[in-house]
Amino acid sequence: MDYFVFKDGELYCEDVRVSVIAEKVGTPFYLYSASTIERHLKAYESALTGLPHLVCYAVKANSNLAVLKLLGDLGAGADIVSGGELFRVTKAGISPQKVVYSGVGKSEHEISMALDQGILMFNVESFGELKAIERLSQEKGKVAPISFRVNPDVDPKTHPYISTGLEENKFGLPVEDALRAYEYAKSSDCLAIKGISCHIGSQLTDLSPFIDALKRVLRLVDTLHDKGIDIEFLDMGGGLGIRYSDETPPLPEEYADALRETLGERPITLVLEPGRSIVGNAGILVTKVLYKKETGKKAFLIVDAAMNDLARPSLYKAHHEIVPVERGGRESRPFDVVGPICETGDFFARSRELEDVDPGALLAIRSAGAYGFTMSSNYNSRPRVAEVMARGDHFSVVRARETYDDLIRGEEFFHG
Ligand code: LLP
Repeated sequence: MDYFVFKDGELYCEDVRVSVIAEKVGTPFYLYSASTIERHLKAYESALTGLPHLVCYAVKANSNLAVLKLLGDLGAGADIVSGGELFRVTKAGISPQKVVYSGVGKSEHEISMALDQGILMFNVESFGELKAIERLSQEKGKVAPISFRVNPDVDPKTHPYISTGLEENKFGLPVEDALRAYEYAKSSDCLAIKGISCHIGSQLTDLSPFIDALKRVLRLVDTLHDKGIDIEFLDMGGGLGIRYSDETPPLPEEYADALRETLGERPITLVLEPGRSIVGNAGILVTKVLYKKETGKKAFLIVDAAMNDLARPSLYKAHHEIVPVERGGRESRPFDVVGPICETGDFFARSRELEDVDPGALLAIRSAGAYGFTMSSNYNSRPRVAEVMARGDHFSVVRARETYDDLIRGEEFFHG
């Protein structure tokens, strides 16, 4: 079931007309469908039935408190990468006992915070980090739960900026180093070995890299077992892709079946860290056409959202479907959809066949629920946009549009 559908030529989010929300909150804004988020989490949950597991939603994909609360209430844990994300998940009521902490550069302050809160495990990515965690837990008289993120050196066949499991990437420990790291951790009184983890990349549309990675990780799990080190949690990271245009990514069910088959009878709790596949297609960015500009070569739709609001097209040349919120039944023709920012890279689509619209029309930029708002900035001193959530025939603003005062909060004249 799609919760973003046209009825009589008008785009709805659940049972709410998108144009009605635009009238109430102004444009641009992100709009999330609560039922879609819920359905996506449940797809993972039912796919993993019978397998001991924990779904730790990757907060970086969309960290709005309403999204975290919704997922937390449905039983999800969280995958975090910063103290700020830990702060958010605790505010949303997610138990630290369901939190895994990933990332190559955890600061002392962040490690301390996570130790104090009592998270499920640190996904450790280097010896340096391991030593820092050990020292801090010793100072606190605590035992730090750890897992090592190994780099399985498989090619996820995705965009180079979001592929992370190759030997040349900065992430994880090579398998040989991981062995030494586990032995070191075993000998420490302040470290408790909980798991093993990997994350090979994002927007994967094929299962085979995941399964190759899992096989390599399992080889290490078996070697560790022979050395008397048993692993309780196996964390496969995130990465399952979504459909932006014509991709056909595997379903969580297919993914889970393949994992189950490869895992065999090992007594292990599987952790997954999906981000994009939970929220990506649960959100759109709604923007208004300000001007239509025709040059000899091109037709531009200049809209009120920009690359600071949704960076993916500029950053990765990512494709996002764009549809008019109200269909007028006019002919399609090629447009460049661009924002007001003073950079040529500020575009949402180039030479895209779109139904002809006039200034004032609303456009929906689709599949914008993941890595949309979270990657937005104040570039060009543009206040960040509002975020709205809808369920059934209700909607509410879950993050207010920033004001000009928000823009300068904390700034002061130089007191030289
Ligand atoms: N776990 C770890 C350790 C990660 O680094 C990531 C994403 C995830 C989980 C979630 O992956 P997902 O299920 O969302 O694929 N900004 C880029 C995506 C960067 C992904 C970074 N890591 C984009 O807009 O495509």
